[in-house]
Amino acid sequence: MQLIEDPSKLQPYQGAAFVPTMGSLHDGHLSLMRRAKKLAEKIVISIFVNPTQFSPDEDYLKYPSTLDEDLAAAERVGVDAVFMPSVEIMYPNGIEPCDIELPDVAIKPQLEDTHRPEHFSGVCQVVSKLFDLIQPSVAIFGEKDYQQLLVIKQMVKDYQDRWPGLYIEPHPTAREDDGLAMSTRNTFLTKEQRTIACEVYQRLSWAQHAQAQEKISVGETEKVITNLLEYVGFVVDYAVIRSGDTLMSVSTFDQPTRALAAVRLGEVRLIDNIAINAN
Ligand code: PAJ
Repeated sequence: MQLIEDPSKLQPYQGAAFVPTMGSLHDGHLSLMRRAKKLAEKIVISIFVNPTQFSPDEDYLKYPSTLDEDLAAAERVGVDAVFMPSVEIMYPNGIEPCDIELPDVAIKPQLEDTHRPEHFSGVCQVVSKLFDLIQPSVAIFGEKDYQQLLVIKQMVKDYQDRWPGLYIEPHPTAREDDGLAMSTRNTFLTKEQRTIACEVYQRLSWAQHAQAQEKISVGETEKVITNLLEYVGFVVDYAVIRSGDTLMSVSTFDQPTRALAAVRLGEVRLIDNIAINAN
């Protein structure tokens, strides 16, 4: 496995399957890499904690790093190259504004876009630079960050001339045994917080079952899951049912819909989502 800091060394990996990450790899990340192996001859991953997607009150400087373990895990999965650029390599002129015009799904749904205002411009900025440097044929993104996945898909559509033929492959969320979506941020949970963290998935699953069995309305479903999440102790940023394609509001379930939630437990923010009517 090749470790690459200098982008000029990436040339042999044009057309590879690419998995961008911020490191601190867990089995969710590794599931993306295992999928990548089936999609192209070579797999490249990146490990880069991108400063431009964190707001000043977030955990950029506290973001965990487990580089030795990450490299050993990537090697075991069969990754061919790990791109690990420095901030200076990614932003040689210092932090500049993002040159991507953000798609509607990055600015209109009032989900992550409202709660993390600069987040998607930072994500699009870094992912577009990584696509420029690596020129993969396919890039794999987790459904765990569902709005991010839709933003990247739309960005690639909007800029097809910049990355011709690039395909974005979605991959299902990897979960712990109790349903909690795997996340680097789970390591910040105290033992007590960890015991209730699985409630997010449980409540979203409840919405899925309730809809299938009782024909409950969108509004009622949102109210019930919000109340239940607050009841067990979360501060709820949102717990909503949205279009699975645009993430805009829906009034009925007669279309592909997703239940999405973002909650806070002390300092830790958890996000998750689940398909209600598959899309
Ligand atoms: P990071 O949080 O490290 O996630 C990297 C990729 O792993 C993303 O596509 C994310 O959706 C996916 N992922 C995380 N947890 C997952 C889980 N439990 N199951 C399946 N996939 C999971 O997302 C980012 O980094 C950054 O925003 C990045 C795209 C790298 C740009 O900096």
